[in-house]
Amino acid sequence: MVDPQLVIEPVYLATVFFFIIGLYRMSNPLTARSGIVWAGAAMLLATVVTFLTPGLGNIGLIGIGIAVGGGLGYLAAKRVAMTDMPQMVAIYNGMGGGAAASISAVELLAGTAANTAVLAVAGGLIGSISFSGSLIAFLKLQGWMRQKPITYSAQQVVNIVVLLLAGFFGALVLTNSGVVPLPVRLFLPLFFLLALLFGLLMTLPIGGADMPVVISLFNALTGLAVAFDGFAIGNYAMIVAGVIVGAAGSLLTLVMARAMNRSIPSVLFGAFGATDEVGGAVTGSLKSIEADDVAVMLAYASKVIIAPGYGMAVAQAQQKVKELSDLLESRGTPVKFAIHPVAGRMPGHMNVLLAEAGVGYEHLFDRDEINPEFTGTDVVLVIGANDVVNPAAHRQGSPLFGMPILDVELAKNVIVLKRGQGRGFAGIENDLFYRDNTRLLYGDAQESVGKIVQALKKL
Ligand code: TAP
Repeated sequence: MVDPQLVIEPVYLATVFFFIIGLYRMSNPLTARSGIVWAGAAMLLATVVTFLTPGLGNIGLIGIGIAVGGGLGYLAAKRVAMTDMPQMVAIYNGMGGGAAASISAVELLAGTAANTAVLAVAGGLIGSISFSGSLIAFLKLQGWMRQKPITYSAQQVVNIVVLLLAGFFGALVLTNSGVVPLPVRLFLPLFFLLALLFGLLMTLPIGGADMPVVISLFNALTGLAVAFDGFAIGNYAMIVAGVIVGAAGSLLTLVMARAMNRSIPSVLFGAFGATDEVGGAVTGSLKSIEADDVAVMLAYASKVIIAPGYGMAVAQAQQKVKELSDLLESRGTPVKFAIHPVAGRMPGHMNVLLAEAGVGYEHLFDRDEINPEFTGTDVVLVIGANDVVNPAAHRQGSPLFGMPILDVELAKNVIVLKRGQGRGFAGIENDLFYRDNTRLLYGDAQESVGKIVQALKKL
């Protein structure tokens, strides 16, 4: 009979290439969908071939687990609103961390050899932290828990003590692994409980505005935990998939932190948004405008830039925005889209929505490309964006100070589409709305853009 390893190992190797191709294709919006398919196929293949592992037990239970998990995941993914995607990523990532921690627990309980026990303890520690931390991130983003940082005195000291204790019990598990099973059974639950507690405690002081960075960090940690477990149980597919997720998650964490001008330590320990500080007093007054008047301004503009944000996603206004942009272009007015890397609630949120509506990539410009163009632009339409266009980011002392923003305030006229006096995700007052060159078009963005389109057609 053929040795199953002769099938398993080459297939695992093939999945490694599939994962890499998938990730590569995900880096470009045009090929991202097929990237997901490549990575999904790799995961399916790796899962199927794992059933050939000699001596694999509990096949029925594994089947039930896959059916329940896969079924729930499928339904949730089908039903989730685009705006709720970050919390979905958080909870799924948490499940990955939990699964990695469980693998570690099984390995350690089985009395694994000392060298692999080290890896299992590392996987267990990191996976547990990612699991409980991601759950808190999910609860905060879902609004089932206070979004503001939860802080108390000597918080970081408590956190460090809990982490050190978790490490201490992890070391005790190690010193006894494979030798005296009884203490392992005693120390192991304590080790996991402390690791879970640390994940929870370290996430409590992190506010909603920093949550995307944290989710991405936990994503990287889950990858790392899976890779450690892969080493512990000798599974190449897990090692490679874990390392890829760890590396991609780490890079994304850095990119997002940079886009928000936050260092990783300040995200983790800064308790951003803990106070009710809203960024200093604003001067000037709010001046509203009607859709008909916006249409007239657009009709006479020689250049228009659209800066979309989270509100466009909430209003599902992307189709109307595309209609407006097509109409303007057909009248000879060039339209560009200014895309901020953290506009919306997930990386690439605006790109995905606009691509879905059929806006060509040649119309999308990132922050560095478009910022020099605002000066001299006749009209900038800010559609449901707030934090990413908040000039407070240029003012020392503001909680947003240093965050790179779209400099829309430099345009001749700025029209902001929003429903009322709502603040952005960071909860900071936006003095752009009070500037002399800014007018506010109140209402749901989809309706407002629809009204502008109708009015423009009549001109
Ligand atoms: P926000 O600062 O959240 O501002 C959204 C604006 O949209 C608000 O001014 C709101 O005002 C308006 N709005 C909401 N619903 C609307 C509707 N139906 N029609 C019209 N306007 C509507 O958005 P942003 O500028 O895109 O900034 C993103 C923020 O989210 C940043 O702070 C970022 O750090 C954070 N964040 C980003 C991510 C990623 S990775 N993209 C993930 C999580 C968090 P009204 O309530 O008055 O309408």
